Amino acid sequence: MSRTYHIVTFGCQMNERDSETIAGMLEEMGYEYCPDFKAADVCVLNTCSVREHADKRFFGVLGQLKNPHEQDPGRIVCVCGCMMQQQVHIDTLKAKYPWVDIVFGTHNIADFPRMFRNAAEEHQKITEVWKDAGPIAEGLPAKREYPFKAFVSIMQGCNNFCTYCIVPYTRGRERSRAPEAVLAEIEGLAASGCREIMLLGQNVNSYAGVCGEDGCDRFGIAPGQKVTFPQLLRRIDCIDGIERVRFMTSHPKDLSDDLVQCFADLKHLCKQIHLPVQAGSDRVLKEMNRHYDSAHYLELIRKLRAACPEIAISTDIIVGFPGETEEDFQATVDLVEKVRYDSAFTFIYSVRKGTPAEKMPDQVPEEIKHQRFDRLLEVIHRIQEEKSAEYQDAVLPVLVEGFSKTDPNVLTGRTESNKTVDFTVRAPEGAEAGCNSAAACAEALIGQIIPVKIVKAQTFSLYGEAELQ
Ligand code: SAH
Ligand code: SF4
Ligand code: F3S
Repeated sequence: MSRTYHIVTFGCQMNERDSETIAGMLEEMGYEYCPDFKAADVCVLNTCSVREHADKRFFGVLGQLKNPHEQDPGRIVCVCGCMMQQQVHIDTLKAKYPWVDIVFGTHNIADFPRMFRNAAEEHQKITEVWKDAGPIAEGLPAKREYPFKAFVSIMQGCNNFCTYCIVPYTRGRERSRAPEAVLAEIEGLAASGCREIMLLGQNVNSYAGVCGEDGCDRFGIAPGQKVTFPQLLRRIDCIDGIERVRFMTSHPKDLSDDLVQCFADLKHLCKQIHLPVQAGSDRVLKEMNRHYDSAHYLELIRKLRAACPEIAISTDIIVGFPGETEEDFQATVDLVEKVRYDSAFTFIYSVRKGTPAEKMPDQVPEEIKHQRFDRLLEVIHRIQEEKSAEYQDAVLPVLVEGFSKTDPNVLTGRTESNKTVDFTVRAPEGAEAGCNSAAACAEALIGQIIPVKIVKAQTFSLYGEAELQ
């Protein structure tokens, strides 16, 4: 019987991408995916530390692995990711969860197969966490969720040190992948049928890849040439087969006119941007160390909409940053009213140990944070509902991802603006569809981009109908 693995991933797309690498490594070592984390022979927990809630969820899941591990000590439990870059969490694991087999960090994933063999074959307990990052490892395997859309990491780490954020401490300094490595990966994905890519980095706008000494003739990059993010995008746009390109995340302080122009010029760049604002008060933005003010941010929005009127804009907002007054909060609400986001992720400020904001005076009481959060959400949802209604009766290209999890007769996919659409398919009236059952017809659409008519546009979801050709 084959041995199995499961990976539980907390946190952002960087962690999801790392989990794809770890899954690829386990499959190369002969393990097969098992959907039940408690039943798998190997369980990897890839942790996130961005808010306290993420830490707590991790300990909840880890606790559930104790019994299965005791019943079968041959079962291997691995813990990695951003929490493990903080000594306090490693100490907690040692003290309270000594049965965990392997602990590693965000910088030494490439070494996972060696650590894993030592644990599996020699029953060693292993804790290896590197404080600093080495050069980006290339050529690692990856087990991706979908054949038709993929994450492509273009850089790692963050140099921005926003005062509330743990990420620069868990992911190290910014490192950009060489442009030729990124382009070759995307070409490979395109050749295997991938249609959509999401470029990943904590701040893709500061991408600064340097080409190796061989240069890259095909893409017109000279040896040693530095490539900016817009220059990289322009080259990706020429890769045959890739029909949709997205990226995240963009920091407003580094969003150049050149990047704005890409939204007007590039054929395959999706008309969508995630541009975290975090707060609307200039005083709070300064305390957050964001390096822009609300006027600069609004000017970016104006430029983006001038270059691409249909662009969908989303954001991240933190409520209750230390010292946030009612007036500061109102400035956030005002900014949201001005921008009119298509969607927004709102977070209640969570104290992170070791960050400058932890030590700031005037931490906002929990009750006020929650009240403000609810008030903000109301405004965001009202605008979202109004914006969503604009999609009613529109016919949108949708990349079909699969069957709906709740209804096997319904397909689900995403629009260019990255909204999920659930839809049904029907044959044109009087015509015989070219496949022998409705299910087979629907199945054949997975991975394709097809027109879907939106018949019901709700705040958080779109419902549509597609006609088989
Ligand atoms: N690099 C990305 C974001 C990474 S973290 C960027 O700068 O845009 C994702 C989001 O989590 C952030 O945008 C921020 O809104 C939120 N966040 C980060 N630290 C937080 C904290 N301590 N409390 C609450 N939200 C936080
Ligand atoms: Fe955190 Fe700021 Fe870096 Fe984003 S840019 S990861 S919020 S420090
Ligand atoms: Fe979390 Fe690490 Fe991402 S802290 S948000 S998984 S970079």
